[in-house]
Amino acid sequence: MAPAVLFLVFTYLMGVSRGSLNCPTGKLNPLQFHLVRQCQRAAADEALALENTSSLKECADLAHDMRGLALNYAPGGPKRRLNAFDQRSFGKQGDKEQRIRSRLSVFEQPGEFFNCHVLKCPQNNTFSGMVNDSRFDYYSLYGRPTVVRNYSCIPEVGLFVVYTQPSAYLNASLTCSNSSEFTGSLAHIASEHRTSLLAQWLVEFNRKSQSLAEGNVYLAYVGLAYNSSTSLSPLDFRNSQGESLQCFLYRAWDGGHPRVGGDLGNASCVALTPQGTWQTLNCDRELPFICEIHTARSTFGWEQSSSELDIGPNAVFECGRDRV
Ligand SMILES: *[C@@H]1O[C@H](CO)[C@@H](O)[C@H](O)[C@H]1NC(C)=O
Ligand SMILES: *[C@@H]1O[C@H](CO)[C@@H](O)[C@H](O)[C@H]1NC(C)=O
Ligand SMILES: *[C@@H]1O[C@H](CO)[C@@H](O)[C@H](O)[C@H]1NC(C)=O
Ligand SMILES: *[C@@H]1O[C@H](CO)[C@@H](O)[C@H](O)[C@H]1NC(C)=O
Ligand SMILES: *[C@@H]1O[C@H](CO)[C@@H](O)[C@H](O)[C@H]1NC(C)=O
Ligand SMILES: *[C@@H]1O[C@H](CO)[C@@H](O)[C@H](O)[C@H]1NC(C)=O
Ligand SMILES: *[C@@H]1O[C@H](CO)[C@@H](O)[C@H](O)[C@H]1NC(C)=O
Ligand SMILES: *[C@@H]1O[C@H](CO)[C@@H](O)[C@H](O)[C@H]1NC(C)=O
Repeated sequence: MAPAVLFLVFTYLMGVSRGSLNCPTGKLNPLQFHLVRQCQRAAADEALALENTSSLKECADLAHDMRGLALNYAPGGPKRRLNAFDQRSFGKQGDKEQRIRSRLSVFEQPGEFFNCHVLKCPQNNTFSGMVNDSRFDYYSLYGRPTVVRNYSCIPEVGLFVVYTQPSAYLNASLTCSNSSEFTGSLAHIASEHRTSLLAQWLVEFNRKSQSLAEGNVYLAYVGLAYNSSTSLSPLDFRNSQGESLQCFLYRAWDGGHPRVGGDLGNASCVALTPQGTWQTLNCDRELPFICEIHTARSTFGWEQSSSELDIGPNAVFECGRDRV
């Protein structure tokens, strides 16, 4: 009896502490690809994967595995078998094109040989990489592109905006989460992929801004902070979603960090260095910061995808009418 009771108490306590660490389950928030453009595909010359899949679901699963942020998919079927925009079959022009095609490898003609293209980054709002192709539809985790101009896509990771105007942590956090231009929060940092790629990106940013005589970014706030009124222990840093660092395995503390106690006893906030390390700082310190743009909200009871159709410049209209 006693061991059983102890076991119950133990599992209860584990449940409580896990609950309050607020670890992500992945189930509540499945990433979802949204239909953005019909009868077009995005340039796929730097695709993460080119495959023939038997369904959109299979293509989306592949994209999740490969950390793709967007995809092209050709559903097939009688109305979508041929590319209505293709001029191949018309006269001399067609012959010439046929000869060019025969010299290209299958990977140089993704539209002809693969129905699922997993892409590193979504298109921005100029859609400059689109090709008219009535066999394909274009999907993105982000839905319609944001209007923010100066964001960057870090391939396989996400979309980010650097703010160079120094700001205290609380205000930085608010600037990210209350933007009128995008849905976002201070950048999540707790993976090697994210830390090293965002750090590389700061290096690149500094290299570019040197030529523009802008300020360099040596420390930038990211979404990780300790707050004595909400954290369970001095090492219980929380990201912008309130998830504990203890949910994640990766750490990149700089030498002598994290600093806890002293003037950081009530609160300390984390900044990323271009060297790919994390430092704890007084949250009142004003620093540049990095916002992460969130993926478009997923709808529950999803069939395969939801639509965030874009009909802006260079979209295809007549194609939509032809579809079943
Ligand atoms: C993919 O499927 C299409 C249509 O069934 C076929 O024409 C194409 O050759 C296939 N691609 C590869 C690489 O096998
Ligand atoms: C959109 O993307 C294209 C190609 O990737 C790039 O050349 C262009 O500068 C981008 N435009 C904006 C406004 O970000
Ligand atoms: C990006 O744009 C926002 C305003 O939309 C601005 O506050 C921010 O400083 C810009 N970032 C850079 C690096 O130019
Ligand atoms: C918050 O940051 C914004 C943009 O950096 C700035 O305009 C504003 O004055 C700041 N507010 C406070 C209270 O620091
Ligand atoms: C969020 O932004 C809106 C305007 O864009 C502003 O009216 C509102 O006060 C802001 N909310 C907070 C909590 O700052
Ligand atoms: C700590 O959390 C409390 C309560 O949620 C909040 O009022 C306070 O602003 C936070 N402090 C910092 C530095 O984030
Ligand atoms: C921490 O908070 C307590 C209670 O609000 C306050 O008395 C103390 O001075 C604070 N410590 C520091 C280092 O700010
Ligand atoms: C696609 O076709 C539409 C007309 O149907 C045209 O306006 C648009 O410029 C074309 N886009 C591209 C990328 O060729």
